Amino acid sequence: MIYKVALIGYGYWGPKLARNFLNSNNFEISCIVDKSLNNLNKAKKIFPTSKFYQNHKMINVNEIDLVVICSPTKFHYEMAKFFLKSNHVLVEKPLSLNLKKVAELERWSKKNNKLLFVDYPFIFSGSINFVYKIIKNKKFGKLLEIESFREQAPIRNDANVVWDLGVHDISILKYILNSNPIMVRGLKYNTAKIKMKDTAYINLLYKNNLKVFIKNSWISPTKIRLIKFKFQNAIITCDENEPLYKIKIYKKDNKNSSRYKLEIPDIDISEPLYNLVNYIYKSIKKKQNPIFDKNFNVSITKVLEKI
Ligand SMILES: NC(=O)c1ccc[n+]([C@@H]2O[C@H](COP(=O)([O-])OP(=O)(O)OC[C@H]3O[C@@H](n4cnc5c(N)ncnc54)[C@H](O)[C@@H]3O)[C@@H](O)[C@H]2O)c1
Repeated sequence: MIYKVALIGYGYWGPKLARNFLNSNNFEISCIVDKSLNNLNKAKKIFPTSKFYQNHKMINVNEIDLVVICSPTKFHYEMAKFFLKSNHVLVEKPLSLNLKKVAELERWSKKNNKLLFVDYPFIFSGSINFVYKIIKNKKFGKLLEIESFREQAPIRNDANVVWDLGVHDISILKYILNSNPIMVRGLKYNTAKIKMKDTAYINLLYKNNLKVFIKNSWISPTKIRLIKFKFQNAIITCDENEPLYKIKIYKKDNKNSSRYKLEIPDIDISEPLYNLVNYIYKSIKKKQNPIFDKNFNVSITKVLEKI
């Protein structure tokens, strides 16, 4: 069965999603919506047989299985609500900047028996899933501390840096720890003179005294996507910018030493968006949504609101 996709928003991120649906044998991009004619013309070159509209209300919902919403964040809620009546929906992160609206979309999806997915790409990455297993089987002892540095990204004017970049950290933490912090502290400010807060320092405390530090900033000359996981017996670094060696394990020489031995494991380096597309296919086919079913979005949005 090939599922038909309508994609809304063909700007920076939309083409990346479109490419991954195109590369899948299980989906076909039936129509693309963008209010910019210039961007629709770019899409036409790659998807010559698709339909093209400038308004999402032109989509014939009866011909579509999955609607993918990759428009600016301020439109996510209204568009998702509109399509959840009749279609499964994938929305770009952040789903909405408002907890009540996120909870309402979750209720809508359940009430209408339609699946709601959100693109938090890192929870579909081989590197994060590698660390997830290590935490689960306690391979290197207790997890003591996590530090995450996420810097440089396009500046947004409808969401601040926490909703834009911090959402990745909070979704990763929720996924690997399956819990929320018991203490949340955040310091946000403007480095550049722009509308939204562009830099944030976040401190979280999880159960078992696990401490988390997150630095998010749009203002940086270099792109940084680095997380350090500090265990009793090893430190694991996860660098999503590395093409192959994303995970490095620094094993402690012995208990009392501060020297480490480096190990670079083989991990799945397939594109996270491709894994997300496969997850969506299986979910629609089996009418299940194991990652998002248990209030994943509500849980994340609660933490983001507190920050
Ligand atoms: N998951 C990720 O890692 C990731 C990365 C980048 C962006 N995003 C998210 O994707 C979304 C889009 O970001 P972007 O960087 O692609 O933005 P963008 O501005 O580059 O693209 C948005 C596109 O939507 C179109 N658009 C605007 N209003 C519209 C409307 N009412 N109807 C139809 N089309 C409309 C614009 O013309 C543009 O082509 C944001 O919510 C952002 O947070 C997610």
